[in-house]
Amino acid sequence: MRMYDLIRKKKLGGELTTEEIDWMIQGYTRGEIPDYQMSAMTMAICFVGMNERETGDLTLSMRDSGDKLDLSAIEGIKLDKHSTGGVGDKTSIALLPLVSCLGVKLAKMSGRGLGHTGGTIDKLESIPGFKTEMDEESFISQVNDIGMAIMGQTADLAPADKKLYALRDVTATVDQLSLIASSIMSKKLAAGADAIVLDVKCGSGAFMKESDDAKALAGAMVKIGAHAGKKCMAVITNMDEPLGRAVGNAIEVREAIDTLKGKGPEDFTALVLALGSRMVLLAGKAADLKDAEDKLKAAIADGRAIEQLKRFISAQGGDASVADDTQKLKVAEQILELKAPSDGYVQRIICDEVGMCSLMLGGGREKKTDIIDPSVGILLKKKVGDPVKKGETMAVIYHNDAVKAQAAYERLMAAYITGAERISPKKLICGEVDR
Ligand code: URA
Repeated sequence: MRMYDLIRKKKLGGELTTEEIDWMIQGYTRGEIPDYQMSAMTMAICFVGMNERETGDLTLSMRDSGDKLDLSAIEGIKLDKHSTGGVGDKTSIALLPLVSCLGVKLAKMSGRGLGHTGGTIDKLESIPGFKTEMDEESFISQVNDIGMAIMGQTADLAPADKKLYALRDVTATVDQLSLIASSIMSKKLAAGADAIVLDVKCGSGAFMKESDDAKALAGAMVKIGAHAGKKCMAVITNMDEPLGRAVGNAIEVREAIDTLKGKGPEDFTALVLALGSRMVLLAGKAADLKDAEDKLKAAIADGRAIEQLKRFISAQGGDASVADDTQKLKVAEQILELKAPSDGYVQRIICDEVGMCSLMLGGGREKKTDIIDPSVGILLKKKVGDPVKKGETMAVIYHNDAVKAQAAYERLMAAYITGAERISPKKLICGEVDR
């Protein structure tokens, strides 16, 4: 086979065979196919597209390009959950302990934040002592012991995707549906779970800004799951304003803890219950969605959920007493309050801008090598639809640097759109794909 012929075939609208895709992906991973030929191919895919079979084959080939986790030593059905990323998305930190209370086994690999979106691993590391690096054996034995584990992604999981993603990032070829879906699913499939629940975010803080694009991505990923013989479903959820009220690292963990005690923000609690009930149902631990949701609510109300979070934190070396006393999570002492410019309503909060403000304070990375300050962040006192009085606090900025805080303040002020008319917040669940 010659890469030149494959590029030409795709450019002319052709369909790549399973063998051609695998030859190309394994050759690229081994360094035998140069970046310039691969970037010509990804650009051809951007213009011509890939059909369902090609997308599935691309995913499986990337899945098989490196290590794969073998979770067969864990009894029962193993579930994984993935979010396409957003602002204030601390969902896994509350969701996994809650769902595992009902006997669902959860083995999850998570990523770090990049750009305006945060990452679960960075958030968890704001808990004193918490370790996110673990070997496969400890990961599996923790799931067997306490029902759940979350670890950082290992270097050699789907290395083809790692290489290809870095190439797409600099050749304007990230935003192609088959390439995104296969990139996400190759890592999920290599991580070994039997069933996967996908939270596809939609809106100004998400990768997919438009509902139709989010639905198409959800559909493509669910089909890939089926192609790989996994149970897979997707929920499309609103990311047009930040999720919950906390955006940062330590303050998001604090909000996840409050939620497991039944004192979380309404939207975040609703999302955790919506995803959680689908996971419980997929694992066969409830008769229907209502039954699953009732069981989850009971686990919050009787304290099992917060106890499970403590077990999880201890198992990964962290100080579980943060769940009893959230003051132990270090939040920056200096604050700057964002005041409403006039009476009215919050009509919009430009979501990715709030993420950028958190990043500017030091809560995220501009480059992979940047070191995060877990104590900074933004607490949204007012959300879309809330009334405000002139001079009332709409948000609080927690910071360790007055210059950075002032820049974040100006950006946050521009992200908060207020006006005389009340606008209802968007629906949390925008759609669902199951097959
Ligand atoms: N996230 C991924 O892992 N891959 C993509 O292509 C886009 C988002």
